[in-house]
Amino acid sequence: MPEQNIFQPDPKLSRSSYVSSLQQYNELYKESIEHPEKFWGNIAKQFHWETPADPKNFLSYNFDISKGPISIKWMEGASTNICYNLLDRNIKNGHGDKIAFYWEGNHPEDFTRFTYRKLLEEVCRFANVLKMHGVNKGDRVAIYMPMIMETPIAMLACARIGAVHSIVFAGFSSDSLAERMKDCKAKVLITSDGAWRGEKLLHLKKICDQALDKAEELGHHVETCIVVKHINRVTAPVPDLVEDFSVDMRDDRDFWWNDEMEDVEPSCYPEWTSVEDPLFMLYTSGSTGKPKGVLHTTGGYLLYASTTFKLVFDYKPGDVYWCTADIGWITGHSYVVYGPLANAATSVMFEGTPFYPDVDRYWQIIEKYKVTQFYTAPTALRSLMKFGDQPPSKHNLETLKVLGSVGEPINPEAWLWYYKVIGKEKCSIVDTFWQTETGGHVITPLPGCTPMKPGSASFPFFGVKPSLLDEGGKEIQGEGEGYLVFSQPWPGMMRTVFNDHPRFESTYFSKFPGYYCTGDGARRDSDGYLWITGRVDDMLNVSGHLMATAEVEAVLTEHPRVSEAAVVSRPHPVKGECLYCFITPNQSETFDKKMVDELKVLVRERIGPFAQPDVIQHAPGLPKTRSGKIMRRILRKVAVNDREVGDISTLAEEQIVEILFQNRPEK
Ligand code: WT7
Repeated sequence: MPEQNIFQPDPKLSRSSYVSSLQQYNELYKESIEHPEKFWGNIAKQFHWETPADPKNFLSYNFDISKGPISIKWMEGASTNICYNLLDRNIKNGHGDKIAFYWEGNHPEDFTRFTYRKLLEEVCRFANVLKMHGVNKGDRVAIYMPMIMETPIAMLACARIGAVHSIVFAGFSSDSLAERMKDCKAKVLITSDGAWRGEKLLHLKKICDQALDKAEELGHHVETCIVVKHINRVTAPVPDLVEDFSVDMRDDRDFWWNDEMEDVEPSCYPEWTSVEDPLFMLYTSGSTGKPKGVLHTTGGYLLYASTTFKLVFDYKPGDVYWCTADIGWITGHSYVVYGPLANAATSVMFEGTPFYPDVDRYWQIIEKYKVTQFYTAPTALRSLMKFGDQPPSKHNLETLKVLGSVGEPINPEAWLWYYKVIGKEKCSIVDTFWQTETGGHVITPLPGCTPMKPGSASFPFFGVKPSLLDEGGKEIQGEGEGYLVFSQPWPGMMRTVFNDHPRFESTYFSKFPGYYCTGDGARRDSDGYLWITGRVDDMLNVSGHLMATAEVEAVLTEHPRVSEAAVVSRPHPVKGECLYCFITPNQSETFDKKMVDELKVLVRERIGPFAQPDVIQHAPGLPKTRSGKIMRRILRKVAVNDREVGDISTLAEEQIVEILFQNRPEK
């Protein structure tokens, strides 16, 4: 790999950023690792603890399975309420009239805003509704909702009464929703009649009806379903109106949100919960078996979501922050809801898609709200890059200071486009590496501080201690590539798998005793920068050379006529494994032999002759989940022409699988 260019942060940004130099970062980092109690204890002072923490018992943990059960406890004995800290505390500090959310609907003329005071009132009302329906502290509440204001309201209402929310992204099938509601034994389900995605109207309540029936078949009864009337509700003239949109409501089970909110008190005393009580769970797919209910608790999560938000986005009063992630994913939990509200921030929340009504919608929203921090995913950037520089150039993006990326390694091609075309070479790009399990960013540059290398997530956040291990579990010092693990806990990390602590221990702590195992590989370069190389199961070994599919993909997408690339490993009789590549050309480009030859040369040049792909196939599209993750499992099947592809129901477009088999160059 050739040395990458280094991009220095803009001096103007450095002058005002919280952490403004690597030297300052190093000092703070050292303290956070050597004295975590002191470091996080200081941060904890800004929040309200009904029962304070005992400084002598601020952190206790065991990461070594050979010494006993894995356990992680921060501030044990303290009590608080996270909703109180996000809303009441900020209102007491004078932010009641501050905008918490600018809500932007699918249709550009449909928008509204919520102040902190208004948000608290709605949350309290809904907390009372939940209580009325028998929801108690510790009960699980399933949420299957679009990006509307009722979603954070429902989450915070749960938190206010100590109930545990379990959000299922509203793109999952009824089977998946049923399975998850059964696993967490949800008492109540909250949904909406429907949702808009561009020109598409999704019938969420219908999916919920099927899921509730299926949960019943699986032996779990959900008592109550509360339904927000969203379709045909308008906040401004002429948005999308549909005739004859109706849903089935079952008398004994289904209630309209608005009816329920009418006769309840607008205040609700918060339930003081122990800081290690569960706050929420969120399912994440495992490489084997059913999804895991990742469980996060209250106190540590508050400290971590809040601190990462503030420092990684360098959020200052007056800024307007926008994260495009759906609340149904961890990014939405930590960086649409909990992190921003803990900082009394003003955020944009967007219901729609980047392509509706036109492909400049994101840029138009940034201009409209004067967004200062923008956080999105590489897959979104690549799909927008396809349309060239003209759509963003129509808009004033001068307010931007920090650009975030999350979810997968960002290929240098997309990084540079983000940096130059969107950020005008003056924004810091924060390539944030983290997981559902980590609760917040764990490896990331800091704005105005970290010199950036396109494609590198760079350095650990405060309190996070990464190591790279070889197959034998030995720590790799200096330059090298290995398993990315963490050797001590940070406050926001998951505490267990819901109802299955043994699975938590075996998934994350059994491979290398003493370490939390991310399941990702990483490389440390000669400057100490960390480069995430992709899931360990996406690593491949070609003739004794360890490499990551992501590395090869980054090279392939450098080609000016390539839009997206995905690489999988295929068994090879001589080399052990070889590379099988799927290529999606840019919109108006054709896939031809010339392109194949150029790509082979490019990979040889950039990585080495051993990395030359054996097969390069045309892929008009890639098999992606609704969240945009490429399902490499399916591509591996295509590579070996094995039509036993298994379950493809989580794909956004199932028909792409057949097209890929048809397109195999080897008949
Ligand atoms: C996996 C976690 C983190 C919230 C969204 C995804 C990959 C995530 C990066 C990044 C390289 C990344 C990893 C990780 N990943 N961010 N900046 N660079 N890889 O959460 O669904 O739990 O997925 O996403 O492979 O393990 P998730």
